[in-house]
Amino acid sequence: MSSSPVIELIREKLDIVDVIREYVPALRKAGRNHKAPCPFHNEKTPSFTVSPDKQIFYCFGCNEGGDVFTFVMKIEGLTFPEAARKLAMKAGVEYGDERTHAMTEADKERLELKKMLTAAAAFYHKTLFSPAGEKAKLYLGERRLSKATVERFELGWAPAGGKALMDELKKAGWSRDLAIKAGLITEREGGLVADTFRGRIMFPIRNQSGDTVAFGGRVLDPEGQPKYLNSPETVLFSKRRTLYGIQEALPQIRKKGRLLLLEGYMDVIGAHQHGVDWAVAPLGTALTGEHVGLIGRYAKDTVVMFDDDRAGIQASVRAAEIFMEAGMYVRLANVGNGQDPDEFLNEYGREEFEKKLAEAADPLDFRMNLFFKGRKTPPTSQEKAQAIALLLETVAKQPDEILKSEWVKSLSSRFGVEEASVLKQLRKAPGPDMRGTKRAAVKTSDMPSIERGFVQMLLRDPSLIEQASALGPEDLSSELARKIFTAILELSPQARGRVSAALIEKFPEDAPLILELTVSDIGGEGQGPQNAAGTLRMLKKFSLERRWKEMKARIGSLTPAQMEEFRKLSAELKSPAKEL
Ligand code: UTP
Ligand code: MN
Repeated sequence: MSSSPVIELIREKLDIVDVIREYVPALRKAGRNHKAPCPFHNEKTPSFTVSPDKQIFYCFGCNEGGDVFTFVMKIEGLTFPEAARKLAMKAGVEYGDERTHAMTEADKERLELKKMLTAAAAFYHKTLFSPAGEKAKLYLGERRLSKATVERFELGWAPAGGKALMDELKKAGWSRDLAIKAGLITEREGGLVADTFRGRIMFPIRNQSGDTVAFGGRVLDPEGQPKYLNSPETVLFSKRRTLYGIQEALPQIRKKGRLLLLEGYMDVIGAHQHGVDWAVAPLGTALTGEHVGLIGRYAKDTVVMFDDDRAGIQASVRAAEIFMEAGMYVRLANVGNGQDPDEFLNEYGREEFEKKLAEAADPLDFRMNLFFKGRKTPPTSQEKAQAIALLLETVAKQPDEILKSEWVKSLSSRFGVEEASVLKQLRKAPGPDMRGTKRAAVKTSDMPSIERGFVQMLLRDPSLIEQASALGPEDLSSELARKIFTAILELSPQARGRVSAALIEKFPEDAPLILELTVSDIGGEGQGPQNAAGTLRMLKKFSLERRWKEMKARIGSLTPAQMEEFRKLSAELKSPAKEL
């Protein structure tokens, strides 16, 4: 977060509640604040809070928070200047060239990298339609991709020679270092460099804002290895967080709240070509908690449909577990025939495909169906026991207790065993793995309430900071309160005007604390200086009492100077409270 006159003007002209409501229509007034289910994590009871007074937001569940710029950055995955540009437009403020505003060096580099990757995508695409791309173009035709689809996904061809892109970038004036940082060029032995992608059909990977951040490249030669090569991890690209097709699918996902997760590039492209345009795929990695978090922002209804082979089925069961660990619902589907969705769509078309989608089952049913599929005779007792033990792993991962008990019921009825024994067995299965799915809630409630009230008072009414500086951080007993008070005292007079936001900028690691205190403040207006003086007196008194007690506890070992202090303290504590 940065400040400049333009940024201040945007802040003034926009109301955070209006901006957030565009992304979170469920936002409702609740007391001084507005609340909704959090767009950054999945939850049923709203802990996402927006404070119109302070122009900040905070989620008590996942601790995301900040001002209007932070919100747009987080929800859209933008850098500060990009978010600022967007908000400037909304506010009707002239923003000028983004290069001139509030750009850190890192922001500038990211922007250059994106431009270079965009240029590379255009080059590969152009090459596909040149004589050099003839074979690749034929191949895409054989894969039944239309010209419109090839254009929509900006598919391309990377020539085999190893320096076509490098030459092109050089011609356009891009530096070699930046091309290496973008993952487009790779250093090889002996300090030589070459194009990362050689002789491959190119799939530009775009993030949810439409920036090209990486590439996937498929070999044309069936013997080539690896079949798909992805860009290395860069400042713009993390495989763990990226879903192929998200930019193309986002409008439909947002509109309908549903998302279809497929296994590969070709599945996503084929699905879109057949009008199933809410499909995305991870990039050759197992699904991660980060992926699921991203999905949870946009979709309530997710179907996972991986290839109908052993690996695909295992991966979909594992994916379902990741969703469950994140407290999200998910259903699993499968096209059968040993096919992948792309093959199935080409052979049977959209209507049949949608039927398969409609058969999507919850993770337990999906696994039970797999077990019973194609069985001619009922399972033996031993087979039942083995299967149930395996299936209970899925049941145990279900954090929703109601669903869990439903699952136990359907498991016992489908296998024809006693519910009680299934339950007993369940207790032996490993429970939900909640590692890293939720950050621990901030516990400012551990502060003594008077100190909490004191800090909240300063956040609410910064004009009281001057008066409050009669106290020092050492007068507060809670470490947290001391930390925040110290930070407040260190703020410049200008920053004190918007104290919560300024504190968050200066001490980003304490943002959750500050936000929690700010938005949970229900305390009254007009508690002006009078009231503040009362609070300060009490805090000082408590502080002196603590000091007195502490000295009394080691009275035998006090130095003469400390003895003198102790006598003074005793006298002071007996006399009626003095004005500060
Ligand atoms: P598949 O082998 O199923 O490829 O791998 P595909 O998408 O169906 O492609 P076609 O139809 O054979 O052309 C599924 C996904 O796994 C990743 C890619 O993201 C691929 O789309 N993958 C696969 C890799 O990252 N590297 C590989 O070598 C193979
Ligand atoms: Mn496949």
